[in-house]
Amino acid sequence: MPTRSANSAPCGGGGRLARRRATEPMTTSTRADELTHAAIASFNNCPDPRLKDILQSLVRHLHAFASDVQLTQDEWAQAIAILTKTGAITDDKRSEFILWSDALGLSGLVDSLANPLPAGATEATVLGPFWTPNAPKRDYAGSMIERPLGTPALVHGVIRDLRGGPIAGAELDVWQNDANGLYAVQESAPDQDHLRGRFSSRADGSYAFVGVRPIPYAIPDDGPVGDMLAATGRHPWRPAHIHMIVSAPGYHRLQTHIFDSASRYLDSDAVFAVKRSLLRDFVVRDPDDPARPTSIERAEWYSVENDILLAPIATGCA
Ligand SMILES: [Fe+2]
Repeated sequence: MPTRSANSAPCGGGGRLARRRATEPMTTSTRADELTHAAIASFNNCPDPRLKDILQSLVRHLHAFASDVQLTQDEWAQAIAILTKTGAITDDKRSEFILWSDALGLSGLVDSLANPLPAGATEATVLGPFWTPNAPKRDYAGSMIERPLGTPALVHGVIRDLRGGPIAGAELDVWQNDANGLYAVQESAPDQDHLRGRFSSRADGSYAFVGVRPIPYAIPDDGPVGDMLAATGRHPWRPAHIHMIVSAPGYHRLQTHIFDSASRYLDSDAVFAVKRSLLRDFVVRDPDDPARPTSIERAEWYSVENDILLAPIATGCA
């Protein structure tokens, strides 16, 4: 089919179309490949080269996807409705968009692309939807438990560089769920600092905090992502884990988890975040164990050791 020029619009359409500059991309083609070409070319004059790359690649892959599955108009309309619903259910405490990204494996992929860490560095994984800023600063071995529910767990270790040297003054931003499966931000209780905290490593790189032994939980499945999981026979469960973001000047910021090595769902995490190197053993401890922190009452408790190795930021002056 010959490409129709802007000045040859049929049926008296020479008004608006005829006034278009000859260099404008053609958008009236009914041929799929010409339409795709025109959509890609529409970004040719984008002044930002990165934005141009992203949008042209997006159009290329989006059109290829639609052609690959022979997307119908009804299915396209369903997709628009799903995106609309995703926006409607998203607020400052719940991001259904992040949940989509997690459940489709995109978050893990972006994380891997962004964090090509050297061998030996602690691996990163997804952020998840429940991090909130400004967690309270707490002391070494301090407790994050604001209301007793789960079984206490002492998490401790040393933050080191890749040569084994201690990193003092690193910050750990920690958040986790409780024995009811919920993060503080999911509850209406006033103590929103429950099981959240920021801790600093000491001069010898050591850190410690008291949380609870986490349990597996289902990602929010009362929205569009849950509908997708149900429609495709997938479960919404995540294995038990504790989140942390570790940062120190001169080192790559690390966003990671500790996974309970005894948890269910390690092989079928709903958000594809498990990395074997992040599995840790929660060891049951006796109530009379002299290592029991004062913030843990005399009852059964756990401890878990978790050293963290941070990758240095390259200086480029080697
Ligand atoms: Fe989580």
